[in-house]
Amino acid sequence: MSTMRPDKLWTCLKTLLAVMGMVVFVATAPARAAPAKDAVLIAAFGTSVKKARDAYAGIEKQVRLAFPDREIRWAWTAHSLLKTDEKSSRLSPQEALAKLATEGVKNVSVLSLHVIPGAEYHNLVKTARTFEGLPKGIRSITVSPPLLHDTGSIKAVAEILARGLPEKRTRDEAVIFVGHGTHHPAGVYYPALQYYMHQLDPNIFVGTVEDNLNLETVLAAVRAKSPRAVWLVPLMTVAGDHTVNDLFGAQKDSWRQAFTSAGIQVKTVASGLGENTELVRLWVNGLRQ
Ligand code: CO
Repeated sequence: MSTMRPDKLWTCLKTLLAVMGMVVFVATAPARAAPAKDAVLIAAFGTSVKKARDAYAGIEKQVRLAFPDREIRWAWTAHSLLKTDEKSSRLSPQEALAKLATEGVKNVSVLSLHVIPGAEYHNLVKTARTFEGLPKGIRSITVSPPLLHDTGSIKAVAEILARGLPEKRTRDEAVIFVGHGTHHPAGVYYPALQYYMHQLDPNIFVGTVEDNLNLETVLAAVRAKSPRAVWLVPLMTVAGDHTVNDLFGAQKDSWRQAFTSAGIQVKTVASGLGENTELVRLWVNGLRQ
């Protein structure tokens, strides 16, 4: 049995104390702030219909899978929906970009969840341009194109929609995809989509709640084909207020009531475009370019 000499023990103890001290020093040294991650800002119109927000959750999941190392934030472009909501923490694109700038984020990719390049989309682009390159601010801000933005995208959307028709639908039943509609020149995207949809299936129609292809126009066109029934499908990112009320509402001027009064049986699909993973992939792919 051997014992350590006292002076050797003391050296040993001093070394141990020194090592422990260093460990404590390293552990308590202030951590250098990690550089802010690049961000994806998902910009949607917003919706007052709670159930419709499930579509947003699904979209966010797909964005996270495509961009696992980005910070992901949301903005709603509908001002009327921002502060009246029960969660007033929702931000407009301006507010969200200002917050990211304050946090030191240098690159932001804005994912536009718009369907056409209308007024809402152009406002978003204008906001992004304004925030880009400000002193100490965000270096670069890109905005992805809306779902429909050129001939290729219209054809791609038409094909995806035609592939995703309700299983129970038969060829002698008409299908109407009803979008929002706009007074903006980009309203031409609706008849353009109608053109390509018609080439795939002459019993598919496109309509709009406002302007463009309105209820009377579409009702007359569908009636002329005397279909066995008609399917009403929202052509909007989420099945929100326009779907619940203008399309499927109980009031006399809803699309459902108008077709029912015209003696045509109505069937409905209550999910928005954002619930179609193939369409979300198109939106997300637009972010990569
Ligand atoms: Co509206």
